[in-house]
Amino acid sequence: MRKVFIAANWKMNKTIGEAQSFLSEFVPLVHGVRDVDIVIAPPFTSLHAASSIIKGAANIQLSAQDIFYKDEGAYTGAISPVMLTDAGCTFVIIGHSERRQYFSDTDEVVNKKIKTARRYGLNVIFCIGESLKERETGKTKDVLSSEIDEGLKDIPLEGIVVAYEPIWAIGTGKTATLEQAQDAHRYIREKLASIYGNRAREIRILYGGSVTPDNINSLMNCKDVDGALVGGSSLDVNRFADIVKYRERQKD
Ligand code: 13P
Repeated sequence: MRKVFIAANWKMNKTIGEAQSFLSEFVPLVHGVRDVDIVIAPPFTSLHAASSIIKGAANIQLSAQDIFYKDEGAYTGAISPVMLTDAGCTFVIIGHSERRQYFSDTDEVVNKKIKTARRYGLNVIFCIGESLKERETGKTKDVLSSEIDEGLKDIPLEGIVVAYEPIWAIGTGKTATLEQAQDAHRYIREKLASIYGNRAREIRILYGGSVTPDNINSLMNCKDVDGALVGGSSLDVNRFADIVKYRERQKD
């Protein structure tokens, strides 16, 4: 019922030339993949160049890694929703823990950014997740609950994909266990159901945090894991293609 969704978050990596050579190789590698929504999120500077390469590939969409919540104006350094759609984006990542940590994106800012993105028809990959300290002190569910309450306040469910990214698993090589992942995803779906009712069954919940070609298959076997948001392993074209093609590799 929920189509698998696998996204590459390149973070602050790759020049325009590097993005172009990655995508020129990647598009033919995943040409036959029809059962996965594939999304690539390069840095702003590479969006336009990336868009012209993936334009012909029906199974790949483009995402930005952030957005500003104003429509336009005197906001030095910021990127508006129109600029993103103009560059070819259909998605934007909002609320990533690195934005929350290094750029002070609060839940309130995240909520404003999601509202603005949706107003312009951009789909949103909305990121939530607990720190190690929060997990160790038993606060995981409280954190997820309040990030959902605040981040999605007054926002309809259409066009939203949720990414659960435990902060302690990001870039650390320490993936959540299958039980931890499924437990968090089940909780997130229950929480969404308490707000949106039955339609929460349709929403895709991605796992993010040290996803690799070796662990994608078992993560995808968790009932409430509908896809992945991949950082480090998405920077190498063969590794990311292997992640996207996890089902085919399973048959080998
Ligand atoms: P890694 O895959 O490098 O752990 O990063 C995960 C992430 O933050 C994706 O948004």
